[in-house]
Amino acid sequence: MKISAHLLHAPEPASLSYLQEHLEPDVTITTGPDLPEPAGYHILVAGRPQREHLVASPNLKALVIPWAGLPASTRELALTFPHIAVHNLHHNSRAVAEMTMALLLSAAKFIVPMDRALRACDWRPRYGLNPAVMLEAKTAVILGYGAIGQRVAKLCRALGMHVLATRRTVDALRSEEGAWRPALVDGEIEVYPPAALAALLPQAHALIICLPLTSETEGLIGAQELAQLPSRAVLVNVGRGAIVDEQALYEALRDGVLHAAGLDVWYNYPQDEAARIHTPPSAYPIYELDNVVLSPHRSGTPRLEAVEQERMRALATLLNAAARGEPLPNRVDVQVGY
Ligand SMILES: NC(=O)c1ccc[n+]([C@@H]2O[C@H](COP(=O)([O-])OP(=O)(O)OC[C@H]3O[C@@H](n4cnc5c(N)ncnc54)[C@H](OP(=O)(O)O)[C@@H]3O)[C@@H](O)[C@H]2O)c1
Repeated sequence: MKISAHLLHAPEPASLSYLQEHLEPDVTITTGPDLPEPAGYHILVAGRPQREHLVASPNLKALVIPWAGLPASTRELALTFPHIAVHNLHHNSRAVAEMTMALLLSAAKFIVPMDRALRACDWRPRYGLNPAVMLEAKTAVILGYGAIGQRVAKLCRALGMHVLATRRTVDALRSEEGAWRPALVDGEIEVYPPAALAALLPQAHALIICLPLTSETEGLIGAQELAQLPSRAVLVNVGRGAIVDEQALYEALRDGVLHAAGLDVWYNYPQDEAARIHTPPSAYPIYELDNVVLSPHRSGTPRLEAVEQERMRALATLLNAAARGEPLPNRVDVQVGY
């Protein structure tokens, strides 16, 4: 079947050629901020389309957000166009998983403050008490066992960690004594439903957040949850900032309730290009704390050539499936929010 798609943001020329090389002959694409006329395409590739884009696309069957996640504005819009299916790309899960481990190790080993000291020729960290924690034989609790969480789980296993995870669509199982049992065991990884969270937190030497931001996950980790973690716990968030309560996170790190954190996702982002050099990522001075590693939402590594190729390949897989009349992968449940 002939399928056409319009990409609202034209990829770099090399990425576009790569995409075209991987498309089947029945797929044609157009690119750019102006919609083609006539607007006959069936698939629109855009993360944050405007209402007029959808109104001006009479044949539109699917909207592809070219990353993992559903921005709030896109969700609101998509709810008013229920006949348009929304899809994600999970092309960068490998890159995000690697960065998750970099943040986990860097936070657990306090690499950043040691680096900062040694740059100032200060060797004292070598001789003082070492705040680093061992991860081997400790427990990682991974919230969100999807494309990213599953890769992170394997990497944590490779470090010799015991791994527990949660996902939304597994059934709750409790033993007769009331204790949680894993709803499924994937290799050596125990997977639990969200309701088991309170039982998992006291075991989480590393709490790793790989969740989407939805009405169920916003504010999921607050002061009460952080207080349930074992002593010297490390938190890593690569999901979305708002999943962890901002004030509670700052205070837990400041007061030592949380031993360390590696954060890639934030509460406040630059609104335009000029603001990129002076936008605090949080309303709280998290950046003054030595026990935090900060990364500017870089896990997905935009514009890293290899990851862009993965994005184009994932997009080609989706468009080729449409041309073959097959179901498109990675459907987003707009009601649920991921
Ligand atoms: N930092 C970055 O650069 C970056 C890059 C990519 C993505 N992300 C973030 O990471 C998120 C996950 O990405 P992904 O590719 O792994 O998505 P995914 O494959 O859709 O995985 C999401 C996982 O979260 C689980 N989940 C959803 N709601 C839950 C809840 N209330 N409690 C427990 N588990 C829940 C899902 O459960 P089911 O399996 O049962 O559906 C699924 O396992 C994205 O939505 C985005 O916010 C960040």
